Amino acid sequence: MSEADTGVAREDELTAFRGAAHALVDSVADHLAALPSRPVWQPLPDALRKQLLDLPLPEHPAGLDELMATASRDVLPHAMGNGHPAFFGWVNPPPSAAGVMASLAAAAMNPSVVSGDHADVHLERTVVRWLAELVGFPHEPGAGLLTSGGSTATIVCLAGARSRALAAAGHDVRRDGLAGAPQLIAYVPAEAHSCVRRALELLGLGSSAMREVPLEEGRLDAIALREAIAADRASGALPAVLVGSAGTVNAGAIDPLDALAEVASVEGLWFHVDGAYGAFGVLDPAIAARYRGMERADSLVLDPHKWLGVPVDAGCALVKRGDDLRDAFSLIPPYLRQDADAPVGTFAEYGLEQTRPFRALKTWATIAARGRTGIAAQVARANALARELATLVEREPELELAAAPETSIVAFRARPEACARTRLDELNRALPEAVQGRGRTFVTGTVFGGRETLRACILHPDTSSEHLATLVAEVVATARSLSDRRQ
Ligand SMILES: Cc1ncc(COP(=O)(O)O)c(C=O)c1O
Repeated sequence: MSEADTGVAREDELTAFRGAAHALVDSVADHLAALPSRPVWQPLPDALRKQLLDLPLPEHPAGLDELMATASRDVLPHAMGNGHPAFFGWVNPPPSAAGVMASLAAAAMNPSVVSGDHADVHLERTVVRWLAELVGFPHEPGAGLLTSGGSTATIVCLAGARSRALAAAGHDVRRDGLAGAPQLIAYVPAEAHSCVRRALELLGLGSSAMREVPLEEGRLDAIALREAIAADRASGALPAVLVGSAGTVNAGAIDPLDALAEVASVEGLWFHVDGAYGAFGVLDPAIAARYRGMERADSLVLDPHKWLGVPVDAGCALVKRGDDLRDAFSLIPPYLRQDADAPVGTFAEYGLEQTRPFRALKTWATIAARGRTGIAAQVARANALARELATLVEREPELELAAAPETSIVAFRARPEACARTRLDELNRALPEAVQGRGRTFVTGTVFGGRETLRACILHPDTSSEHLATLVAEVVATARSLSDRRQ
C-alpha cells in the first residue's frame, strides 16, 4: 500500500471511529437513563448466556458500527446491577460519568504509566497526593501508587511491612527468600477483609501466623494484645504487623485506630489500615473523630473504585515512607533504566506492575467533577441514609438490626413470625438470592457475629428513602414467602 493509500485508510478508520463512538455514547446515555426503571438485576436469558459463552473466534474483521451495536444490545443491558439506586450489594457503586468519559480518553492514549515526562505519570503523582489529602494521610512524593484494587494494594503494603521487619532482623528476604527467616507474626482483627489473609499467605507468612486482635464491641484490649505480642516474641517469632479496618466489609465498623496505632508504635510493629471501603467516611464531620489514628498508619489502602465511584479498576496504596516500598520492589534491568537514579523512583519500583494502565485520568476526573465538598456531601448523605435504614429495620418487627451502622453499611437479619427460630439461619442464608431474583432491589449476605446476616451497602449517589423502603419491603415479603416453605 502506498503512503497515500495508508493515509486514506487511516482517515476512513477515524471516520468510522467517530461515527461508532458517537453512537456508542448515545446508547450508553440511553442505558444510564433507562437504568432506574429497569429491574435492578435479572438473570441472563438462557439463549444469550449460551451465545456469549459459545462465541466463536471471528475469522474475519467486523465493522466498528456492528461491534458497538452488539455491545449495546447484548452486553450493556445485562449488567451486575450496581448502576441502579436500589442496588445494595457487596461494595460496588455506579461509575461517575466523569470517570466513564475519562476512561475513553485514557484508553485512546494507552500509555504505560511508569516513568518519563508524559502527562499520565505526573497526573498519577497528583491523584495519589489528592487521595492522601482527602483522607488526611501525610504524604511525601513517591509514597503511594494506584493499583488494580484494594487487594493488590494490600499485597503491596504488606510486602513493604515484610521487607522492613526482616531487614531489621538482619534477614535479606529478596536475596534469601523466607528460608532461615524468623517467623513473622501479623495481628489481624477477625472482621478484617479476606484480602489481608490472602496477602499474608502470598507473602509466605502463612495464615497460621495470624493472631486475632482482641476487640470487644469496637474496643481494643491493649493489655491482652501486648501480652500476645510478648508471648510470640518469647517463643522466638517476630511480631511484625498490626492491622486495623477503617470500615469493615461486613458492617462498616471503624476499628479503634488510635488505640491500635499506639500499640503498634510502642511495640515497633508496622500498622496497616484497610480503608478500601471506609476511609473516605472521614469526610463526614459526624463521624470524622472515629478515624483518629488512621494518619498514624505505616500503610493505608484506599479504593477509589468504591465510595468515590471511579470506574473499576482503581485502588491505592499509601505508605508513610516511600522507601519501604522501593526497598521491597525496586528492580531495574538495563532495558528499563529510565529515570533510574531519580530521588523518586519509577512507579514500577514501588509495586507489582511493570506495564501500568492510566488509572489516574478517571480518578482525577471523578474527584475534580465533585470537588472535596461534593464528595464529602455524598459520603455524609450515604451515612445518613444508613442510619435511616437502621431505623426502618428496627421499626419492622420481622427484621432485626445486627449492628448499629457507623458508616454506610447496615447489617441486619430477617425473623419472620412464621419461621421457626431454629430455621432462621437457613432462611437468612437463602434470602439474598431470593430477593435479587425478584429484581426490585439487590442485597447480599454474609456471616456476622456467627449468624447468617444481610448487609446493605449504600454507595449510589441517587439512592433515596424510597429505595430504602423498597429494600425493607422486599426483604420482609421474600422472608415471609421463604418461611412459608420452611416450617
Ligand atoms: C474493607 C475492604 N477491604 C478490601 C477490599 C478488597 O478490595 P478490592 O475488591 O478492590 O480488591 C474490600 C472489597 O470489598 C473491602 O470491602
